[in-house]
Amino acid sequence: MPLVPIDSLTTSSEIITGLSAAQASISPKYFYDAAGSALFEQITQLPEYYLTRTERAIMATHADTLALRIAPGATVIEAGAGSCEKARTLCATIRPHCFVGVDIAADFLQRAVAGLRREFPSLDVRSVVADLMDEIVLPVDLPPGRRLVFYPGSSIGNFAPDAALGLLRRMRRLTEADGALLIGVDLVKSKAILEAAYDDAAGVTAAFNLNVLRHVNRLLTADFDVAHWRHRSFFNEEQSRIEMHLEARCATRVSWPTGCRSFHRAERIHTENSYKYRVADFAELLRRAGFARQVCWTDAQQWFAVFLAEP
Ligand code: AVJ
Repeated sequence: MPLVPIDSLTTSSEIITGLSAAQASISPKYFYDAAGSALFEQITQLPEYYLTRTERAIMATHADTLALRIAPGATVIEAGAGSCEKARTLCATIRPHCFVGVDIAADFLQRAVAGLRREFPSLDVRSVVADLMDEIVLPVDLPPGRRLVFYPGSSIGNFAPDAALGLLRRMRRLTEADGALLIGVDLVKSKAILEAAYDDAAGVTAAFNLNVLRHVNRLLTADFDVAHWRHRSFFNEEQSRIEMHLEARCATRVSWPTGCRSFHRAERIHTENSYKYRVADFAELLRRAGFARQVCWTDAQQWFAVFLAEP
């Protein structure tokens, strides 16, 4: 029998631990197989999903200021680069010497990075496959330029505030003494607007949530019956987060080579938290992570914020 790579063992045991807990959960990082990454791209274009387009508008409004503050020749490190769509606009604006895309979805990242190379032939483009929960190890031969860590899309929202602080501290270390962090954060707003963004009329978010079961089936050689599950999402005001769950439509069961789990009807698997911040609270989190100087830009409705933060 061929040896199973160590990281796939870590992946399997992490997923099994989540599935076996009294409150079952699957980490949102497993949304992003090829199908999930494509569904997420579709989500970003939904009328209800205001996040992507609001962030893009804020960045466009402040592109000149950004270009002035980040001189050409910098090294841009994008965490969770995905399709590198935002990197494209940023690179056209600030003209970096080097771009490092960091993402957990290896195949999707390779393709996106190749596209970026074609579009910017003189840009030194690198890719790093990494889980942001771990220390991010950069290529040893990065050019010396000033570093801009780019973390758009409110992806920071997937982490509970404590874990978010840990991640911001790791990013602070990546910026070194003279770099900066450019980060997008979704803000607290009316429950109706938040909930529509995570339960769209076309059902794309539902498909995205359910697809995690197919990905887990492949990763674990498990046998989730996707038809037994439905998408649920709601804003938890107390914790200031959107929660996404998969709810069993009927009593059901999943098996994998070393075990199994039964679910009763209406039992849930928690698949994602998406924290929403107030500007002052996020500014405080950045300060605690070691970013003393900050600029915050928002849209007219104060739905989304982009922070440029420096040590
Ligand atoms: C990629 C984590 C920012 O929380 O809005 C979109 C993921 N989940 N719709 C978010 C997501 C459901 C998204 N982030």
